[in-house]
Amino acid sequence: MQRYERTGRTRLLAATIAGTLGLAVALPAVGEEMSPVSPDLTPKLRDLLRQEMQSIEQASKDILSALIAGDDARVADLAQQIHDSFILQQSMTPEDKQDLMAAVPENFVARDKAFHRLSADLAQAGRDGDRGAQHAEFGRMIEACTACHARYATDRFPMLAE
Ligand code: HEC
Repeated sequence: MQRYERTGRTRLLAATIAGTLGLAVALPAVGEEMSPVSPDLTPKLRDLLRQEMQSIEQASKDILSALIAGDDARVADLAQQIHDSFILQQSMTPEDKQDLMAAVPENFVARDKAFHRLSADLAQAGRDGDRGAQHAEFGRMIEACTACHARYATDRFPMLAE
């Protein structure tokens, strides 16, 4: 671990550079807590969250296949499905979703929102047939998965804590 990264000024600089590159979502907010959210959830909410995670992982893999085939419409469709959280509509009632959001820290909710914005941007890039933008947005989306896991899911993904 490099010590200098912990100073406020270096963080600010890093955030500015990353912001310029459009990577802000992958960086921790200053003072952002880093502890697993899963133990704070009811068994039902935990199951629903895991189901949602499994379906967005499957959709992300399918997006990769569509990207390498140049299938813009399928990229748009899958990214839109992630954005609309198909699983939420199938098994999470609006009340479940509210309960989940109430049980997790504010920064987790912010990361979830930022993640959903990225999926909307990816869907738009698909509809525009802009492949360069699709690759960039897909990369940002995967960074957002990892960044959230590194902060809130190290119980499930312990290697991210290293
Ligand atoms: C806003 C935070 C957040 C984002 C963004 C996020 N995840 Fe997760 N993810 C979690 C948490 C928290 C868990 C741990 C759930 C648990 O163990 O109960 C998790 C768990 C998982 C799991 C394991 C599910 C299981 O059955 O144990 C997978 C797979 C996964 N995420 C995939 C993804 C992928 C792929 C993305 C991006 C496309 C993503 N996640 C984005 C928070 C997030």
